[in-house]
Amino acid sequence: MVIDVVERRAFAEELAVEAGNLALSYRERGNIEVRSKGILDWATEADLATERLIRRRIGESFPDDNILGEEGGGGSLYEIGSNTWVIDPIDGTTCFVSDLPSWCVSIACLDDRDRAYLGVVHDPTGAETFSALVGHGFAINGIHVSIPSMGITDGLVAVGHPRNASDEPTLTFLRNLFAIGGLFYNSGSAALGLAYVAAGRLVGFFESDLRAWDALAGEVLIRESGRWSTSFMRDRSLTTSKPVLAANRGSASAMWGLATNLMEECSRPDQDTTL
Ligand code: IPD
Ligand code: CA
Ligand code: CA
Repeated sequence: MVIDVVERRAFAEELAVEAGNLALSYRERGNIEVRSKGILDWATEADLATERLIRRRIGESFPDDNILGEEGGGGSLYEIGSNTWVIDPIDGTTCFVSDLPSWCVSIACLDDRDRAYLGVVHDPTGAETFSALVGHGFAINGIHVSIPSMGITDGLVAVGHPRNASDEPTLTFLRNLFAIGGLFYNSGSAALGLAYVAAGRLVGFFESDLRAWDALAGEVLIRESGRWSTSFMRDRSLTTSKPVLAANRGSASAMWGLATNLMEECSRPDQDTTL
């Protein structure tokens, strides 16, 4: 089957905006129903409704594809000939619930050999759509941008902290960052943090334990913007959580140095054959 990837990019961009508007309508209505999954780990009625909408639209347009989503789990993964959509209806739910603007819709698509080729991160509050298609570049609101490189202390480094994993990797990374005079920023949304690195607003990104729906769309943005990131599919698994590191070219080696003992099984930036 021939897949029209350009058509899929346009579809994903439109869908992310539609999904973002739905989530935003819950935010604007207020009184959002929240279900607790753990300490500071919530799923709201907006997360569930938004994921349902995204699944429905993908099912209507690409009925043979698989879908893996944060709230609804995975379909029958790895069917031969199928692409797989990986979706987070609201990345940054803690911010969403707290009425902070830092949350987004994240949509990625993998080909039948599990290579992520499409990433869209839409920020409804800021009205920004970050999108990338392998071989076709990185765009913000449809405008292709090329951003210069920065050194590791020329700006802020995004550092996320996973709720249900050990504190030690985050503390080690932060200690190493502070030791060189660096400063951190936590957007509360891994996908937005990665999009901001792609857009040149942040120097790099580290989080010790992310899921595919947090990381994959951002990874495509990072790579298509000419920046460097670890490959989420390095262990051939969509369903395991793992550390994610990304940086612009001018700080990739320095970022690697800060996280080096935390990144087993990853290729160093200077030995990354997937680039
Ligand atoms: C979370 C956000 C957060 C990151 C967590 C993720 P959610 O996703 O991306 O920035 O630190 O590890 O779980 O729960 O808001 O979709
Ligand atoms: Ca998420
Ligand atoms: Ca989510």
